[in-house]
Amino acid sequence: MLANRLRKNLKKLKGWRKTHQIQCFRVYDRDIPEIPLIIDVYGDRAVVFDRGRADGSDGNPAEYCPIIADTLQIEDRYTYLKARQRQSGKEQYEKLGETRDFFEVTEGEGQFWVNLNDYLDTGLFLDHRSLRKRVGDMSAGKKVLNLFAYTGSFSVYAALAGAAEVWTVDMSNTYLNWARRNFTLNDIDAGKHRFVREDILMPGRPEFSHETFDIIVLDPPTFSNSKKMVKPFDIQTDHIQLLNEMTSLLNPNGTLFFSTNFRKFQLEWKVTPDFQLKDISDKTVPFDYRDKKIHRCYEISRLS
Ligand SMILES: C[S@@+](CC[C@H](N)C(=O)[O-])C[C@H]1O[C@@H](n2cnc3c(N)ncnc32)[C@H](O)[C@@H]1O
Repeated sequence: MLANRLRKNLKKLKGWRKTHQIQCFRVYDRDIPEIPLIIDVYGDRAVVFDRGRADGSDGNPAEYCPIIADTLQIEDRYTYLKARQRQSGKEQYEKLGETRDFFEVTEGEGQFWVNLNDYLDTGLFLDHRSLRKRVGDMSAGKKVLNLFAYTGSFSVYAALAGAAEVWTVDMSNTYLNWARRNFTLNDIDAGKHRFVREDILMPGRPEFSHETFDIIVLDPPTFSNSKKMVKPFDIQTDHIQLLNEMTSLLNPNGTLFFSTNFRKFQLEWKVTPDFQLKDISDKTVPFDYRDKKIHRCYEISRLS
């Protein structure tokens, strides 16, 4: 049953993958309710997320791995199963392993280090593929701020497109180092750019808030209560203040992209006459995602 569905999905994605030279994509997302897995392909490897059954039982997701490997023509050792984990904000970014099993993948003009073993996330969020391209396409000569930057994939796109200066801001040294390694992988001169370890939410204010920018990427977590932070963060409650603060850093005619994966998100930020707001989610949610609510994305432009 799973093999047939995977074959069907691969067939559906074939032309799109060829046209856009897609190496990393989502091939299965709980298409069959009795097989509640998400399967993402990264080059010649695949990661299998077990999402658990509606009745709370665990099932045996490992039994599907040989079928997945066989159908996707991937070596067994390159099929990585992520057991089901109930996440809290605290656990979200913690390490799961120490294999340091990093490998390179290509997306668009860029290359990225990915690790399917040691962390809950892989280093490259596939649902932001289109948004990364959009940011890259408008970055030439621009000053770009990438907030909650994670492994700096938006920054790589901007820098490769010829951004004058890219600021990559995250509070995790692990991810900032990963972002630096992504710059090196792409032969980007990191000396022109800034990597800043900061709690973006810290009142008082972080270093970047004394600057202004032409493009801002704002992709915060839904919840965060890391011990490094002064207070817990909740996207629904806190996005109004966050958007007020970050839009104030935009240069005239600048653009801020705000994205959230919170499924119940309601935008409560009020647009003032200086700004224009567009919900661009239908353009940023990618073709390979069956789940069209994977994220919501807004483009906020400063008019003057
Ligand atoms: C949702 S991911 C961002 C994904 C990223 N924009 C991308 O598409 O690759 C969350 C990131 O936010 C960072 N983070 C969470 N809370 C933060 C805070 N208060 N200040 C700075 N970074 C934070 C985490 O370290 C993690 O790298």
